[in-house]
Amino acid sequence: MIKALRGMKDVLFEESSKFTHFIEVASRVAKNYGFEYIETPLLEETNLFKRSVGESSDIVNKEMYQFIDKGKNDVCLRPEGTAGVVRAFIEKKLDRINTTNRFFYHGAMFRYERPQKGRLREFHQFGVESFGESNVYEDANVILMVNEIFSQLNIKFKLKLNSLGCPECMPEYRENLIKNLKSFEDKLCLDCQRRIEQNPIRVLDCKNKSCQELIKESPKLIDNLCQSCDSDFSKLKAILKSNDLDFEIDTHLVRGLDYYSKTAFEFVSDEIGAQSAIAGGGRYDRLIEFLDGRATPAVGFAIGIERILDLIKVDESSLNGIYFGALDENYLDLVFQKATQKRKDTKVFVEYSKKSLKAHLKGANKQKAKHCAVIGENEANESKIWVKNLEDSNEELIDFNSF
Ligand code: HAM
Repeated sequence: MIKALRGMKDVLFEESSKFTHFIEVASRVAKNYGFEYIETPLLEETNLFKRSVGESSDIVNKEMYQFIDKGKNDVCLRPEGTAGVVRAFIEKKLDRINTTNRFFYHGAMFRYERPQKGRLREFHQFGVESFGESNVYEDANVILMVNEIFSQLNIKFKLKLNSLGCPECMPEYRENLIKNLKSFEDKLCLDCQRRIEQNPIRVLDCKNKSCQELIKESPKLIDNLCQSCDSDFSKLKAILKSNDLDFEIDTHLVRGLDYYSKTAFEFVSDEIGAQSAIAGGGRYDRLIEFLDGRATPAVGFAIGIERILDLIKVDESSLNGIYFGALDENYLDLVFQKATQKRKDTKVFVEYSKKSLKAHLKGANKQKAKHCAVIGENEANESKIWVKNLEDSNEELIDFNSF
């Protein structure tokens, strides 16, 4: 028997109704916030991710689904959505128009990680990217958007916030951090030793307990921000507070992708086990230039859909739609015709086999239909249809044409 690949899964039944419910809610919120839908390819040139997510990141280093296609192109299944949207933004020359562009997307992402609960090799994200706005209100806007989506779904979370500084304040901090890390380099894990030169701030969020202990006293990003980063960070905190959104500052939050500067944030849940990050994002003002576009400020986030499915409650108890059945094959044509008409505005289930009234009622209950509509000989002769409301048990014979 052929099975789905390790770390990849099918989504069906209760999970798929939660999945589609989530997409509906999140898309509606995104539209209310002025974002428009964008669809970009699953497959991109490998270089796109090397130059954006970064060669020092685990994603590019270890986790890419990368291969040479039949045209000898080095390609890769997207491990995240931001890079493709930025590529499209530049390719469509939107970086040359002085206006704000806001996009949202959802779809599959691929990372060759070690699968475990909440960590898949194919997973789905819902994300947004906002281009052209350097005002910190836009950082607050996207954070409040995640809050709105989770609130509408009744999902509880903790918001973690940090600032990663900018090219003005980071070089000096980086040098100080390297100096500090080198003083206990041999005690750090091998990954951290490699990161010291490549991307030292990634050492700050190493999950290894002994590394965490060692870096407790290392210089902190937020104590070394330039005036502009510092005042933006203070303003962001003030906006979130005035909008009643609680957060905690996590000085070790650096994110696993290399393109961020200034605001970085993560939403975590304590109800889903070790893989607790349910959304992450931040500002990436340098990425567009880095990918050969005109310098454009940008900020965005992505929510991991599989991680929140267990947290979504969909009320399946209410009855809705119509169940149609015939007492004899001769009346199936009539039943099918009426069901097709009704499908224009309501959910309809049609039973194709002839059954007794009792069996049809049982079928309607199983389908959680609100009405059970049946045609037998008497109804057909009188051009009627028998309809039972399964909520209040009211039964009626209704004129076939007017039903
Ligand atoms: P990310 O933090 O790598 O950010 O991923 C966002 C979310 O995707 C995570 O918080 C998590 O919920 C989910 N996720 C990541 N990896 C897996 C996995 N292996 N299995 C299941 N879920 C996973 C980004 O991807 C950025 N592009 C977000 C962004 C958009 N930043 C700016 N704009």
